[in-house]
Amino acid sequence: MKKHLCLLISLIIFFFTACKEAPKTDVPLYEISKAATTDKAMVVSAHPHATNIGVDLLQQGGNAYDAAIGVQFALAVVYPVAGNIGGGGFMVSRTKAGEITTLDYREKAPAAAHRDMYLDSLDNVIKGLSINGHLAAGVPGSVDGMFKIFEKYSKLKDFKKLIQPSIDLAEKGFKITAKQAQNLNGKQDAFKTCNTTMPVFVKDMPWKEGDLLVQKDLANTLKRIRDQGEAGFYEGETADLIVKEMQAGGGIISKEDLKNYDAVWRTPLNTVYKGYNIISMAPPSSGGIALTQLLEMVEPYPIKDWGFQSQKTVHLITEAERRVYADRAKHLGDNDYYKVPMEELKNPDYLKSRMKNFNPDLATSSDSIEAGVFEPKESEQTTHFSIVDQEGNAISITTTINSGYGSKTVVTGAGFLLNNEMDDFSSKPGTPNFYGLLGAEANAIEPGKRMLSSMTPSIVEKDNKLFMVVGTPGGSTIITSVFQTILNVTEFGMTMDEAVAAPRFHHQWKPDKIMVEKDAVSPADRIALEGMGHEFLERGSIGRVDAILIKPNGKLEGGADPRGDDHVAGF
Ligand code: DON
Repeated sequence: MKKHLCLLISLIIFFFTACKEAPKTDVPLYEISKAATTDKAMVVSAHPHATNIGVDLLQQGGNAYDAAIGVQFALAVVYPVAGNIGGGGFMVSRTKAGEITTLDYREKAPAAAHRDMYLDSLDNVIKGLSINGHLAAGVPGSVDGMFKIFEKYSKLKDFKKLIQPSIDLAEKGFKITAKQAQNLNGKQDAFKTCNTTMPVFVKDMPWKEGDLLVQKDLANTLKRIRDQGEAGFYEGETADLIVKEMQAGGGIISKEDLKNYDAVWRTPLNTVYKGYNIISMAPPSSGGIALTQLLEMVEPYPIKDWGFQSQKTVHLITEAERRVYADRAKHLGDNDYYKVPMEELKNPDYLKSRMKNFNPDLATSSDSIEAGVFEPKESEQTTHFSIVDQEGNAISITTTINSGYGSKTVVTGAGFLLNNEMDDFSSKPGTPNFYGLLGAEANAIEPGKRMLSSMTPSIVEKDNKLFMVVGTPGGSTIITSVFQTILNVTEFGMTMDEAVAAPRFHHQWKPDKIMVEKDAVSPADRIALEGMGHEFLERGSIGRVDAILIKPNGKLEGGADPRGDDHVAGF
């Protein structure tokens, strides 16, 4: 009897404790906001820690540029799938005075790279060689990019202040989200095969939400950058560790490659679409040219009346995208190495002529579409963040190590992942890369050349005032996601968070299919479009747009993509 009583009491205690503790599991790991309106300043990024570090720097009196540097380093720690110091990116910025600058800190091919480096003796592409492991890495540009931004624009003028929060997170660790646990678990085999020593991402038991990720080696690398400046990455101990890693794993990045890396200020590209001035990135990104082409091609049509994702709108946009990606495959590459016919590609008469064979009732087959012909002239991981500060400066940065966790290779002793950006080159004409994109001579590998990108960090002005800051990851779908987000606001009157969350679709010439997120097109419109000759391919989420809209009353409206852990905050 006594025994039974004991058992009963234990059971009651157990239930009470269980009930008392139950609510704990409902407490979210992070406060994540998908939509916000603020008076003065805002940061939207892929991780709450990174957003909060940016906001904190703004509150300390830093400007958008200070915050951007803080966010880039924070993402390298708390968002290793794409945030980086071992990759590169592009910044489009607009100062409060309206001055536009664009910075190219894209990776470069090492000096020992050559055009056939991923081909076997029969000239076939060796599967995976440009995607996994040491040989996939280009010379990283992110650290040089951050110092270029710091030197030109920092208001706080104290680099230590900008990088220290990231050092602390790497050293003490941070709790990973459920999505991050899932991503890390999915790459365990790849981490094991692509590394010469096991990185902190490899774990015996599966990762789970709330696990602490501590990155001591990365913290030490960040400290070297803090204490020695750029030389803390491109020279000395970090450079030694990178080169040692290359030698151990068959890579080709040398000390000279690292020392010679130089980010470049580029001339911004812009186009006017129905009174909005859309500013974006020049080559080696294809984003600015492609976005210009898309907007000009659809401008004559009443898509506002046709409606969001209606049969007519989807058909028109698909036909424009098909033609633009055909041009991308043939004509776009690093303009420093290959003469990109920029003026021709943006020429309004050319773009009109491209749409001459647009049939409002029928799909055009991609096989019948070739890139435009010009007279030769003489002579699926990335991350985006958007920031507006209290003074009115705006920054749009997309940064990447290419696919999820880049090459999956971590530099032993330095704790950061190397990119696999070399796959963005065309390894062989006619053979699609990781994103199914085709390329040609314009994007062939050459020593020192930058690989073509789709990253499209953009800023939109209206009446000469800042109107929107926008961008996204998503490989080949980046351009079309930015394009559709701009249309969602300017044509379909959505709020920023609605525009970011709205379902998306994508066409890239080849494969000749409209890729759609679930429910992006209604069943009736889909049947009608199939009747016109379009083929659909349903796929997972497309892009993660993080964007800010400036309302007529001056308030900031932010949208953080619900497809990820993205978070918007400000004041
Ligand atoms: O630069 C580019 O176009 C690619 N490396 C971007 C990769 C990317 O967006 C992956 N994210 N999902």
